[in-house]
Amino acid sequence: MNIILIGPPGAGKGTQARILAFTRNMIQLSTGDMLRDARQSGTEMGNKVAAVMDAGELVTDEIVIGLIEEKLQGDNAGGFIFDGFPRTLAQADALGELLNKTGHTLDAVVEMRVDDEALVARITARSTCGDCGEVYNDQTKPIPEDGKCAKCGGTEFKRRADDNEESLRTRLMEYYKKTSPLIGYYHAKGDLRPVDGLGEIDEVAVRIAKVLD
Ligand code: AP5
Repeated sequence: MNIILIGPPGAGKGTQARILAFTRNMIQLSTGDMLRDARQSGTEMGNKVAAVMDAGELVTDEIVIGLIEEKLQGDNAGGFIFDGFPRTLAQADALGELLNKTGHTLDAVVEMRVDDEALVARITARSTCGDCGEVYNDQTKPIPEDGKCAKCGGTEFKRRADDNEESLRTRLMEYYKKTSPLIGYYHAKGDLRPVDGLGEIDEVAVRIAKVLD
């Protein structure tokens, strides 16, 4: 099964993609993670995208489509979870073509619905382990009291450079202007599965499982 998780910043796409990858042996393809890896590597492309990401704007279609194309060549285990891709109509068309070319199908587009107030609260409380990338949240999943990551024991935690109010405003605007039209696009194709993204992480996971099975 190949699915897209679509929703505004902080909707819980990454959190739910990791659960699906674990429970269904699926492969999470997060363009955000790929771009963050690229910027860390110090390549020309990485340096080019860093400023764009920090400002909360979208990276060019050409770059992200290229990143996804590379990943579609490999083994897809229990299927792909597209997390944060596509984000524009051009990316959606390109994904359709790439899936056709590689003999895959798109089975569902899960739209995660969360109101703006909750998004801001979630994003401004997020931190990640500097070693393994485990995601924490000051409110809902705090860093353990001993200051060590529950997954790897790491002691360095960081906040994303784009998790500040100004970048978040731009990210939300980019979502409503350029990504939300995809909801109508996939609805018209009969692929859209809206899910209430508010509530406990496990509750949301159950709702997603229900629309997929
Ligand atoms: P990306 O990394 O994709 O960021 P995003 O879409 O802004 O989404 P986030 O990662 O912030 O949120 P999420 O929905 O994954 O939520 P999470 O599970 O972490 O993209 C970053 C940038 O890269 C973009 O701005 C752009 O520049 C570029 N980019 C990426 N893809 C691109 C593309 N296709 N085209 C062009 N540019 C692209 O959860 C957030 C927090 O909430 C966490 O702390 C979590 O613990 C908590 N949480 C999760 N679920 C719940 C819940 N149910 N209740 C309470 N708290 C919860």
